[in-house]
Amino acid sequence: MKILALNGSVRKYGNSEILLKQALMGAEAEGAEVEILKLADYNIGPCLGCGLCLFRENVCQQKDNTHEIFEKVDAADGVILGAPCYFLELTAVVKQLIDRCWIIGHNKIGKPQKPASVIVPYATRGWIPYVFTQANILFNVMCLTKINQAAICTQGISEVVLNQEGMDLADRMGREIVEAVRTKDLSYRGEKGICPACHDKLLRVMSDMETIECPTCGVRGKLSLVNGKIDVKFEEKAWEEARFRLDVSYNHYTYHIAPSKDYFLRTKDERKTKTQKYREYLAK
Ligand SMILES: Cc1cc2nc3c(=O)[nH]c(=O)nc-3n(C[C@H](O)[C@H](O)[C@H](O)COP(=O)(O)O)c2cc1C
Repeated sequence: MKILALNGSVRKYGNSEILLKQALMGAEAEGAEVEILKLADYNIGPCLGCGLCLFRENVCQQKDNTHEIFEKVDAADGVILGAPCYFLELTAVVKQLIDRCWIIGHNKIGKPQKPASVIVPYATRGWIPYVFTQANILFNVMCLTKINQAAICTQGISEVVLNQEGMDLADRMGREIVEAVRTKDLSYRGEKGICPACHDKLLRVMSDMETIECPTCGVRGKLSLVNGKIDVKFEEKAWEEARFRLDVSYNHYTYHIAPSKDYFLRTKDERKTKTQKYREYLAK
């Protein structure tokens, strides 16, 4: 069994690296083979938006080594992402990787789901609203099922070693991934959230001021006040619409994205004529 850690921090001996290594020590103690890689060591170019990966299966025009990360994730049985919070989100390299995931994200049917966890060191309490959003998106497109998440408060390089609670949690999360692989139990073990799909607590309030939506999953429910406290109820059916469910992603690709190719090809001449002035305007 192989557990892979993805480090989204650039800092050498930073908190993400230390927490991930502690998690891997836990995993190793449970009998796993382990590996860690730093995303910033890889050349992850931007998605070129050419659409070839969607319309000509598995073709990517970007010449870099992102595919090596995909291969390592494919070869692993479980994954732990560790990345610091930068400006309320995860680091840009994580988003860059997400953008490159179209090539694998529309092709998930038949792929086994594997357990994954995310550990986020951060410095300021309350300054982490979007960190789990990005992890959720990345895991979803990579066929990883989130079984736990943790945000650990710590600031300077390597200071997390002074946070014994955080270190112990990382160790447990490493062991837990091994147990999830062994038992094939991919149920969520983390702190209770609100969204039944991604367990995050972020909500969008829709214009009727009653319907709420998980911005990541698109799952909708109703908000009310019960004894002065916010109560959110999701209908059972709402879960069937969760954006990243295998069948919903498949339908999105099959009925929304794939047919757009015909329109694109059909309008080629008209687009060419009408875009001419934009090609010429401010051309260097
Ligand atoms: C550019 C930058 C932006 C940051 N933004 C936030 C933030 O929005 N919220 C927060 O809690 N911490 C923020 N931090 C602090 C880091 O999340 C924190 O220091 C973390 O422990 C670093 O982990 P690392 O050592 O693995 O890189 C920021 C740090 C940097 C360098």
